[in-house]
Amino acid sequence: MKLVTQTLLMAAAILLASACTQPSTVTTNQSAPIVAASPVTKATTPPDEFALARATFQKNCVGCHGEDGMGGVKTVDGKKLKVPSFHEGHALTHKDEDFVKQITNGGDGMPAFKDKLSPEEMNDLVRFIRKVIQSSGH
Ligand code: HEC
Repeated sequence: MKLVTQTLLMAAAILLASACTQPSTVTTNQSAPIVAASPVTKATTPPDEFALARATFQKNCVGCHGEDGMGGVKTVDGKKLKVPSFHEGHALTHKDEDFVKQITNGGDGMPAFKDKLSPEEMNDLVRFIRKVIQSSGH
């Protein structure tokens, strides 16, 4: 007699459990697509407009000018070279055209990049120096 009661109780419990889980699963399934379609997901991944310039700078310029554009004394081809900072002096008064000219023709220790970079890449680099490096507050 006891065994029968237990079995009945268990059966009832299983029935109750499945009755409870079923409707809640349906609710989750329904709300999931709404969460995924929320515009917040899109807004968290803005494209980096300087991604390309950053890579070009990393490859061609960082060795002398440094990641932060602080320059300093670098040893290039066994010679000591003083690289000016982008955050002070001439770099602040020189115009964008002066920058492009310097990148194109080089001079005073800096190599010319006219055969390596396109005019668009150079303009991108100048924008990157102005907007990212010079605005970083060093
Ligand atoms: C071999 C080292 C070296 C490399 C590589 C180099 N530079 Fe320079 N750069 C210098 C030196 C040295 C000067 C200072 C030249 C002078 O005194 O006129 C300079 C000056 C400049 C200036 C002028 C700053 C001003 O005060 O007007 C700009 C802009 C510049 N570099 C950008 C770049 C960019 C962009 C790259 C990569 C494409 C690059 N440099 C790669 C050494 C380097």
